[in-house]
Amino acid sequence: MIVSDVAQSAAPVRGSRFVRACLRQPVDRTPVWFLRQAGRYMPEYMAVRKHHSLLDICKTPEIAAEVTITAAERLGVDAAIIFADLLLPFTPMGLDFEFVAGEGPVVHVPIRSCEQVKALVTDRVEELGYVARSIEKVAKHFEPARADGDQLGIIGFCGAPFTLASYMIEGGSSRNYIETKKMMYGDGVAWPMLMEKLVTVLVGYAQQQVEAGADVIQIFDSWAGALSVTDYREYCLAWTTELVGRVRAMGVPVIYFGVDTASLLPAMRETGADVIGLDWRVPLEVGWKSVGAGCGVQGNLDPIALFAPEEVLKARVDEVLKAAAGRPGHIFNLGHGIVPGTPVENVIRVVEWVKELDGRYRA
Ligand code: CP3
Repeated sequence: MIVSDVAQSAAPVRGSRFVRACLRQPVDRTPVWFLRQAGRYMPEYMAVRKHHSLLDICKTPEIAAEVTITAAERLGVDAAIIFADLLLPFTPMGLDFEFVAGEGPVVHVPIRSCEQVKALVTDRVEELGYVARSIEKVAKHFEPARADGDQLGIIGFCGAPFTLASYMIEGGSSRNYIETKKMMYGDGVAWPMLMEKLVTVLVGYAQQQVEAGADVIQIFDSWAGALSVTDYREYCLAWTTELVGRVRAMGVPVIYFGVDTASLLPAMRETGADVIGLDWRVPLEVGWKSVGAGCGVQGNLDPIALFAPEEVLKARVDEVLKAAAGRPGHIFNLGHGIVPGTPVENVIRVVEWVKELDGRYRA
């Protein structure tokens, strides 16, 4: 079994219940934050979006920091995830993309050949320094302890090699990942080279974020659930493990997240991540058993439950807390991101209920 050497050897952790929970240390109450907590469901974000494109916001540290801070403070959560996007590292790799309204990300010339993989650049990661500058601003803002003595956790993030490769190869979002799997199964030179190059870039990118003040790095493998356990093990696990190990060696805990991963959880745990994100399809206690006691879990309310009547939503929040039973290592979150149209007041209520109901299940 993999033991958490970060938990044993880390320098004193900032006074953050979120970071302590990532290390499976005891906390006064379960920390809470939300995947996609800054985004189109929030009027404050939409007001900023009126004047700036998504990429402009990401690339302007003052605005990215403001969006990050506004969301965290409005919701009253225990952690702030930096406002950025999974696809930003494509640009310094030499791959052009844009966000098309209503369609999501579009890569103009998708990667389909070994020659194209060879041409990808890995030594220009410093061009992503604007994300680190945003983190510095957010970390400075949240440096003072809050009224309850806690310091907000600062989350940096990047994609996992498989999920990023899927956008590079498909050219955007996908249903069946046909082109991705064609390269994965069929090109024993291009696929490992692509994975290797992504790990190189992602390690450098994570390093910049940690040096800028990120307390924790979350690795999004959002679409890993498209893989069988055999394929995940054969074509992804080694590179993701390398990425997780190299980020943990920077002295921060790693949260590793994917969707539709119930069958993959034991393999995902083998990456050595400190915390595994669970979606709502797996009962929290079942998912926790699957990753093992030596690992924390994050989740796992259905984001669409945020549209439910108050009593239903409150019951679902209670169910998640009850399943976690106050064990060290649980971070309350959704099973995936908040979607546009979600009532902000329901998100705020969930935070209040986590704070109110949590004590029931704590020994
Ligand atoms: O608080 C936050 O979490 C916001 C920061 C954030 C964004 N993207 C900004 C964004 C984060 C953490 C991401 C990660 C991201 N980006 C993921 C992994 C997260 C997940 O949900 O699994 C993925 C797959 C992407 C790629 C991406 N970016 C897609 C597929 C899309 C289009 C789909 C959509 O939701 O619109 C984006 C656009 C995007 N990234 C938006 C935001 C706020 C919405 C578009 C906009 O504001 O114009």
